[in-house]
Amino acid sequence: MATAAHILVVDDEAGIRTSLAKILEREAYSVTTTDSGEEALGIARDQHVDLVLADIMMPKMSGIDLLRALKAMSPAIEVVMMTAFGSVENAVECMREGAYDFIAKPLKRAIVLRSIERALERRALLHENRALRQAMSSSSTSDLVGQAVAWRKTLDVVTQAAPSKATILIVGESGTGKELLAREIHRLSDRSAAPFVPVNCSALPETLLESELFGHERGAFTGAHERREGRFERASGGTIFLDEIGETSAPVQVRLLRVLQEGEIERVGGQEVRRVDVRVVAATWRNLEEDVRAGRFREDLYYRLNVIKLAVPPLRERHGDVLLLAQHFLKAYADKNKKSVRAFAAAALKALDGYAWPGNVRELENAIERAVVLCRGEVIDLQDLPEAVAHAEGRPIESGDGIFVPFGTPLYEVERRLIEETLKRAGGDKRTAARLLGVHARTIHRKLGDREE
Ligand SMILES: Nc1ncnc2c1ncn2[C@@H]1O[C@H](COP(=O)(O)OP(=O)(O)OP(=O)(O)O)[C@@H](O)[C@H]1O
Ligand SMILES: [Mg+2]
Repeated sequence: MATAAHILVVDDEAGIRTSLAKILEREAYSVTTTDSGEEALGIARDQHVDLVLADIMMPKMSGIDLLRALKAMSPAIEVVMMTAFGSVENAVECMREGAYDFIAKPLKRAIVLRSIERALERRALLHENRALRQAMSSSSTSDLVGQAVAWRKTLDVVTQAAPSKATILIVGESGTGKELLAREIHRLSDRSAAPFVPVNCSALPETLLESELFGHERGAFTGAHERREGRFERASGGTIFLDEIGETSAPVQVRLLRVLQEGEIERVGGQEVRRVDVRVVAATWRNLEEDVRAGRFREDLYYRLNVIKLAVPPLRERHGDVLLLAQHFLKAYADKNKKSVRAFAAAALKALDGYAWPGNVRELENAIERAVVLCRGEVIDLQDLPEAVAHAEGRPIESGDGIFVPFGTPLYEVERRLIEETLKRAGGDKRTAARLLGVHARTIHRKLGDREE
């Protein structure tokens, strides 16, 4: 374990408490002792406790009652029971209630230490498994929706860059999917079994961010009661996602440069240099080049981060994707809210497509979630959409409007663009588009189907 395990000794006999404390402290465990079960519960509630060593026979609350209460409160705490009246019944009952082990008095130093060591090992293992399961469940599916050329170009970069350890800088407006893409990069890399650790650099004050990222030693600052590992250490073997990197202060930038250059960190208030193997993916909505010119961001750090730049296009540049995403969110939120909403009315589609989406995918997602919740029937209509969206009417088709087709464009491409553009102007309604194009709606279905392959 990285930090000394905290062991709580509960026994009504002062002699036992003192001798156990001495034995355990010599092994560098951190130890707290108490003579009552009630007090033990309070300590376990207020402090981080890894293991409780409890006597069974105590005057007020018995060891078994304490065991039950502890497990109910925090099942992750390991409990080892001790008794002078070792009987099989007691042992069986303790194990059934979730104790890790049962040791007989008079206590033998070696037996106590071995039991504690094993219990702590199991705890670490369970913890690791849980982290692994979480990493796997969040990385097993990809929910990326989009067909637009600009979006697919972005995904191509993701696929190419993901397997390497290269640092990636994701830039894009808010709500465009930067974090989603960072997760996708991690998922497609050979680090996917190790943790993906996101950190929002703008959410914490400077000093807290420093210790959050790099950890701190005990006593590094007021309130640092315990030594703590930072997110870089937690991301070991995996990927750290530094969101809003443009908001970091100068001292944090210096430390980040060091990790990127040397793969080394130092905990706040510590001297020891630690090596970390972590892939860095950073994101920002800011123009970092400008920040560099203005002296707000270190140039050397900028170049280290910007090994591969991933530019995420805003939604208004992803032609056709608004409607695909809208359908995707409709289904997701209908399922989540157990509602039978299935479709959009033509007017609603037109409004969705005509709106500029300054908040990008996030704004669209929120609008659809709200519409699903408000919707009374099976079809989302104009009045279910936010005011701003409902009033942004689709652009009318004007004479002089059209597609630009340079010489040399293949005919199928002309057809594709014309269909796409007409469909867009028709608010995504295939029947209207078909009428405008003078073909059957089936023809559009077929042509679009051909294209999606
Ligand atoms: N292509 C996509 N397919 C499906 N869902 C998407 C897509 N892009 C974004 N989303 C969803 O939109 C929401 C916003 O995405 P995300 O948080 O990744 O954006 P962001 O760029 O990090 O935003 P911010 O700048 O506000 O932090 C999330 O719920 C995400 O799942
Ligand atoms: Mg984000």
